[in-house]
Amino acid sequence: MTKLWGGRFEGGLDPFFERFNRSLPFDRRLIEEDITGSIAWARALGSAGVLEQGEVDQLAAALDLLREELSNDPARVARAPDEDVHSFVERELLQSLGVLARKLHTGRSRNDQVATDLKLWLKKHADELDLRLTALQAALVDVAERWADLPLPGYTHLQRAQPITAGHHALAYVEMLDRDRGRLHDARTRMDTCPLGSGALAGTAFPIDREALAEGLGFRGGPTRNSLDAVGDRDHVAELVFACALTMVHLSRLAEDWIFLGTFEARLVRFSDAVATGSSLMPQKKNPDALELIRGKCGRVAGHLSGFLMTLKGLPLAYDKDFQEDKEALFDALDTTIACVRVATTVVATIEYDGERCRAAASEGYLNATDVADLLVRAGVPFRDAHERVGAAVREALAAGVELHQLEEATLKRLFPELSGALREELGVDRVLARRDVLGGTAPRRVRAAAAIARARIERKEHQ
Ligand code: ARG
Repeated sequence: MTKLWGGRFEGGLDPFFERFNRSLPFDRRLIEEDITGSIAWARALGSAGVLEQGEVDQLAAALDLLREELSNDPARVARAPDEDVHSFVERELLQSLGVLARKLHTGRSRNDQVATDLKLWLKKHADELDLRLTALQAALVDVAERWADLPLPGYTHLQRAQPITAGHHALAYVEMLDRDRGRLHDARTRMDTCPLGSGALAGTAFPIDREALAEGLGFRGGPTRNSLDAVGDRDHVAELVFACALTMVHLSRLAEDWIFLGTFEARLVRFSDAVATGSSLMPQKKNPDALELIRGKCGRVAGHLSGFLMTLKGLPLAYDKDFQEDKEALFDALDTTIACVRVATTVVATIEYDGERCRAAASEGYLNATDVADLLVRAGVPFRDAHERVGAAVREALAAGVELHQLEEATLKRLFPELSGALREELGVDRVLARRDVLGGTAPRRVRAAAAIARARIERKEHQ
């Protein structure tokens, strides 16, 4: 195989090292971007007077043709023996154009080339992840609207705490994903500068109009400002992998929450057959594999983040071959996250709440104890005293094996003489929910309003 750097070498590569060194098996995913960047570079060389217009046109046409041929036969890159995607494109050009192909790399290095390819790829895929996240948010808002007033036990420390609505619970995840999308956009904006023209490290020696080059390639932030940094920067990879890792942490929390709600012990939600599997041995089983896999894959994406940060740590300026390690981490982090978001969307879109069991569960376990204390406060009792008296009442109810609102009329009168006879109704789960009528609270009225706001934000493509 001819190399892009053969002239200085006499001996051939050790065959095992040759395979070890190759990146084509994975960087072939940059083929689109490499062709786009190469066409832009040919034009920039033309504008700089390095290539003649006819040469530029021939190069651009050959690159376009290659792009088209590859779209009909994508496996052609996979079959190729080249060192990397850049060598592949140059060899293909040589075959179709002859010697003119040997002029394309003038003033360019694979270092500024790969940095540019990667940023183009990242921007595209950050946009795809954003779109997928938006679809998941929309599915969660559907759940929130459908079950805006369904009572659900809310937990802290995984102990029943206060009633919430199923809608409120679903909307909590919409917020997490909103921040995830915001992080993607931040990272995308920060990486939106064009490294091409930085050469190997010191800047190209030809009079390239880097402003025009950046603009032509769609980099909103213009050209990078320092050539050493431009070829030696992979912050954008780390940021994107971090954005993926935190998104995965959120998905794994969602998974864990809903796996719990779907246990036989809770039986508050049922998963669709479309996202569950059975056991080869136990005929009765239906397992939440989709959510478990999402929870599990979080570890792998978080691993890519710490792995890649360690790859970057201590690297001297400017380009180092260590950077080649960025791709598999990045590709897998994005692929995995996008796949998990898609599966989560199907789980959410097909979830069913067991209305009766949810309501019963939210009415059991002294979830209205805070409300008794609050009612005492409204009757003039200092909160700390009210807290203590209700705590004692819970102890008494526990001993009797009943809920607070199931205590004997006489007992309630004795414990809470300042509260009216309507205490029992005041403690019903719907009353308890309706009382949380504050911005961001779980009162069904607020949940419906929050769902409407979330939907409008999604439609306007807003994020935090
Ligand atoms: N395959 C290389 C990478 O992914 C391309 C850049 C190679 N540059 C070099 N100076 N060897 O980073």
